[in-house]
Amino acid sequence: MKGVILAGGTGSRLFPLTKVTNKHLLPIYNKPMIYYPLQTLISANIKEVLIISGPEHAGHFLNLLGSGKEFGVKFTYEIQEKAGGIAQALSLAEDFSNNGPITVILGDNIYEDNFSEEIKSFEKGGMIFLKEVQDPERFGVAELNGKNVIKIEEKPKIPKSNYCVTGLYVYDNEVFSVIKTLKPSKRGELEITDVNNYYIDKNAMKAEFVKGFWSDAGTFESLIKASNLIREKIN
Ligand code: DAU
Repeated sequence: MKGVILAGGTGSRLFPLTKVTNKHLLPIYNKPMIYYPLQTLISANIKEVLIISGPEHAGHFLNLLGSGKEFGVKFTYEIQEKAGGIAQALSLAEDFSNNGPITVILGDNIYEDNFSEEIKSFEKGGMIFLKEVQDPERFGVAELNGKNVIKIEEKPKIPKSNYCVTGLYVYDNEVFSVIKTLKPSKRGELEITDVNNYYIDKNAMKAEFVKGFWSDAGTFESLIKASNLIREKIN
């Protein structure tokens, strides 16, 4: 299994912190943000990692992470020219995937769990990871029937549950043809939620639940929350 870290986007919700650097290079307590999703992939025994970032600060990722030797993995780098959405960023991983399955993690998602078993068990279709949260309207939200996801809504005003879809996804190689059929959403992006709904409609989506702590880090509140969680965990 190969892995992809999506570290593009504008980071506009963290302005002016992101005026001269990329969101994923900002600190979460004692490490740059991107170290955490990277560690999640490494802990799942992923040895080849593609890092996708915007053009503005791409060199800084290279300076920080290098070849991957230090982490015991191999890095490849790709540039997303414009922030066209998570699914658009993922489309840049097609050659890297080499017709195989792919684990994708958002560069601002911080997990405590180790997902090696779930990822090892993946065969085909898609896999998502849900977490119960207090503020589901900020995320993709799962509509559930028991433990089955019947639909995902992106940032609904009236969420159908408290279970959000976190930023870790496993897909078979069909994902790249699915992305080619997508149309931009109202916010002008190719949405990962549309990809996930495709797999749900096909009965090919497996939902797992996140047990340990999870946070995104794309807003001032979540950035400090993630830092505090990491500080508590390691001290
Ligand atoms: O954190 C989980 C949530 O992430 C999910 O619940 C949502 O379904 C999903 O749409 C996403 O929501 P956000 O609105 O928080 O995503 P954001 O635009 O902040 O992007 C998250 C990461 O994805 C960002 O840290 C880098 C990457 N990204 C994003 C965009 C828009 C890219 O690499 N390129 C992009 O063009």
